Amino acid sequence: MKNLLVTGGAGFIGSNFINYILKNRDDVFIVNLDNLTYAGNLENLKACELHKNYKFIKGDICSRELVDEIFGKYNIKHVINFAAESHVDRSILGSEIFFTTNVIGTNVLLEAARRYEVERFLQISTDEVYGSLGPEGLFTESTPLSPNSPYSSSKASADLMALSFHHTYGLPVVITRCSNNYGPYQFPEKLIPLMIINSLNDKKLPVYGDGLNVRDWIYVVDHNRAAELVWEKGTPGEVYNVGAEQEMNNIEIIKLILSYLGKSEKLIEYMKDRPGHDRRYAIDASRIKNELAWKPEYKFEDAIKETIDWYLNNKPWWENIISGDYRDYYRNMYEKFYKH
Ligand code: NAD
Ligand code: TYD
Repeated sequence: MKNLLVTGGAGFIGSNFINYILKNRDDVFIVNLDNLTYAGNLENLKACELHKNYKFIKGDICSRELVDEIFGKYNIKHVINFAAESHVDRSILGSEIFFTTNVIGTNVLLEAARRYEVERFLQISTDEVYGSLGPEGLFTESTPLSPNSPYSSSKASADLMALSFHHTYGLPVVITRCSNNYGPYQFPEKLIPLMIINSLNDKKLPVYGDGLNVRDWIYVVDHNRAAELVWEKGTPGEVYNVGAEQEMNNIEIIKLILSYLGKSEKLIEYMKDRPGHDRRYAIDASRIKNELAWKPEYKFEDAIKETIDWYLNNKPWWENIISGDYRDYYRNMYEKFYKH
């Protein structure tokens, strides 16, 4: 049995990972450590809450005592660190929690992993650590780090720290740097669920700047298949880019959502641009393809429809979110911060 600590497992990508592993394998015991911030939601894990190979612990990755206790009690030999503050706009409004969770929290986990001599530590990172591309070119693993937002700079800091633990102590660290994910259970602050939900509610669709910023989209399951492979088969000390060659600009995506839902493009509203807005991300995933035989299985044109259908069929999940604290966040962001 592999005793695996998954952090941030109640969030969008982490919960998808846990559901995926527990459905497909019986050789992994998962301890999910998550302090249930606004983004953590145990509804995402309903399917596995009673699974014999699963234990949820509500707690903070920044708590050295708690993390130490978990490593000891559950004989943790593997770590996958999904836990993070993950939204760029929130990091622009206030950066402190980003550095606490994403940097100090990662340090706490790395120190415990070192003391308990774990066999693998996977740090889930992001392509945003590379900064922004012009119209041409792709991020490779040797692209210099040049993060532009408080969020991406906190993630880059964590990456450098994790690699230093490999270099200095021989800790078997691996890192994935994935592009923008989409799929079920994504919190509605992010582009795709926000636009789906606003369209369904006939609310304005707030587009930052000219709407021509490009992101390289990947279905969350493809990311998690890559994470599973890198966790178990990646070379310690190495970084693996993950992406599905699905570049799209924001307006294209928004129009696709509107057309699928039969809504008018008049809902589109141009806002002020995001401060420091990265223009384009695009991933060269040759390393993981060549070394670990990974390839994406989902095409954007199909998986985006499945995703929209999921939001159509799971209204209670998101209605519950948008009727709570999210309302204040939305007002602050879109009726003040981004308003022309
Ligand atoms: P998310 O915001 O949906 O979930 C984050 C989870 O971490 C939540 O469940 C939250 O409760 C938990 N968490 C936050 N602070 C914590 C703390 N101090 N202790 C314990 N748990 C804590 O994020 P996501 O989109 O699922 O992203 C997961 C990871 O993947 C992050 O590390 C992010 O940087 C990375 N990533 C995300 C994307 C993307 O497109 N969403 C792309 C590449 C990489
Ligand atoms: P986002 O989902 O926040 O991901 P990231 O900034 O981490 O890539 O945003 C994706 C793109 O969509 C980005 O170019 C910003 C843009 N965007 C909007 O135009 N309006 C919005 O309301 C949001 C949330 C994002």
